Amino acid sequence: MRFIGNKEPIIGEIKSVLNQKGLLRDKNKLKLFDAFCGTGAVSNSLKDHFDLVVNDLLNWCVVYTKGRIVVNDCTFKKLGFDPFHFFNSNNLTKKGFFYKNYSPGSSKRKYFSPENAGRIDYFRNTIEGWKQDGKINDNEYSYLLSSLIESISFVSNTAGVYGAFLKHWDPRASKPIIFKRVETKNSKYSNLEYHNEKVEDIIEAVNCDILYLDPPYTQNQYGTQYHLLETLVLNDNPSVSQITGSRPTTPMRSDWSKMYKAHILFDKVLSKTRAKYILFSYSPDGFMSKSFIEAILKRYGKPETYECKKISYNKYTNFKSRGGKEHFEYLFFVEKKDSSNIYYESPLNYIGSKARLVPEINKHLPKRITTFIDIFGGGFNVGINSNAKHVIYNDINYFVKDLVESFKINDTYQYILYLKKIIKRYNLKKADAEGYLKVRNYYNSLPIEKRNPKLLYTVILYGFNQQIRFNGDHDFNNPVGMRWFNDKVLEKKISFSKKIKEKNITFKSIEYSDLIGEIGKDAFVYMDPPYRHTNGSYNDGKRGFNGWGLDDERKLFEFADLLNKKSINFMLSYVAEHRGKVNSELKNWVTSSNYSLISIESIPGVRRKEVLILNYD
Ligand SMILES: C[S@@+](CC[C@H](N)C(=O)[O-])C[C@H]1O[C@@H](n2cnc3c(N)ncnc32)[C@H](O)[C@@H]1O
Repeated sequence: MRFIGNKEPIIGEIKSVLNQKGLLRDKNKLKLFDAFCGTGAVSNSLKDHFDLVVNDLLNWCVVYTKGRIVVNDCTFKKLGFDPFHFFNSNNLTKKGFFYKNYSPGSSKRKYFSPENAGRIDYFRNTIEGWKQDGKINDNEYSYLLSSLIESISFVSNTAGVYGAFLKHWDPRASKPIIFKRVETKNSKYSNLEYHNEKVEDIIEAVNCDILYLDPPYTQNQYGTQYHLLETLVLNDNPSVSQITGSRPTTPMRSDWSKMYKAHILFDKVLSKTRAKYILFSYSPDGFMSKSFIEAILKRYGKPETYECKKISYNKYTNFKSRGGKEHFEYLFFVEKKDSSNIYYESPLNYIGSKARLVPEINKHLPKRITTFIDIFGGGFNVGINSNAKHVIYNDINYFVKDLVESFKINDTYQYILYLKKIIKRYNLKKADAEGYLKVRNYYNSLPIEKRNPKLLYTVILYGFNQQIRFNGDHDFNNPVGMRWFNDKVLEKKISFSKKIKEKNITFKSIEYSDLIGEIGKDAFVYMDPPYRHTNGSYNDGKRGFNGWGLDDERKLFEFADLLNKKSINFMLSYVAEHRGKVNSELKNWVTSSNYSLISIESIPGVRRKEVLILNYD
């Protein structure tokens, strides 16, 4: 049958990717989860290669898919005759729901001729009766319903979908309906599990090896376009709307058809799936851009396994009828990382950010930590990636602390809408000072207690290098920059916001040394202070927050010694050498206290030696 987004034309390409990755096996079959199965085109054509899990938000899609897959099991032994022959050799009709609501028999709607609508009611009613009387089993029931869906597609007075009927009668609608067998692949399947849920609600529970995702990519709601088939399968006589006769569409609404909600769901599904391999079909015209998709697939997947195939539809469809415009679709593949190798990055571009060093830092952390204290939290790249049960975030800069906390306490979707609203209102663009200064002035004009971190975040995104810089009066004073709210930042924001919401975090904004009373024996203290030899904008005492000089460094060493005396494990991230300048105070302190000093890989192009100092083995 015709179906929006039907993948029948690209099955060959899907198979070829699976084959190339060595996943198309005849023995030791893998389990493939077709999470948005639609008409089951993909599952049906792969049924002899994989154990299958199929799912769709629409019930009729699940039944239709199931019917196609199980066809070889359907012998109709108990029924005792061939139902296709039976239906086609009588002319019985029934004035049921379809006749009354979807034909001019007793409505104004012209989905079917009265004769065909009566036949459809008769077929549906008879199939239900056989099921209730135990004459057909579950598979046979699905097979007959999928065949009924197939059959009505030849006589419906619609333009391909079933959202509305045509004003004038299409000649094919006057042909008498024939009860046809659903199109299927004549081969055996091994295992089939099926669900009728929102994929985002079941993703964690579904055990599978390969996840195939083919979500909607436009605002078009499948539930609206195919309401009639849902009613045909559910057979629940719903109350229907005036014009189209649609059942209530709310339960069928998909958030994948909404800008930004799709992004948030995609992140959730990728992070929660148990699958090792991910195959993803999407259109270049969809809500999510290729750069967003690539960033997110590389966050959860091994970057070296990432692939994006551009599949041209021109060889399958009538090129001329679309005015010669190239029409293509993406097919992405990635192998998922082990969960211990998945890292989240702060959406704040924080100076001195440890984002790139987190894997190295994690390697040197004790295996089990109950409370992780990130006492110079900053952008929170380190604390977010700790797997401690409880994390304490602290930063003396309360603007930064509020910013990081804003990702936890605000709904991510509403937050993004807010950003977009402000960007539009001030016409924010990269390197465009006009709107930028207006919004920055507005932010600075607010009393400190009224300053909204969401507004600050928007301003930051358009500032120079997206840095956070305040002057002595605590006014934000970063000039306009060359960056903007692009899809890579969006990806970081979404994945980070999800992670931060999942974690048990206490936020604080106090002088770090004042935390000492709260640090218990089971805590682990991570310290990533400003560095004396470097020049982060927060390093300069004139900028509204404390600077970082020799005295501060000494105080920090004393604080670390105090932790050590209390048998509290700590890790200090520091710079031992910067542009040829060696921090000899640091070296002396580490040697005399007998701490371990670990050199970590320096960032290419940056002439500084980053080290970790630990007071444990
Ligand atoms: C592009 S179609 C899939 C086409 C399918 N691969 C085929 O070849 O027929 C997208 C499907 O996603 C389903 N859908 C939308 N939101 C969903 C959700 N949250 N969970 C599961 N299915 C959903 C729609 O009902 C629709 O059938």
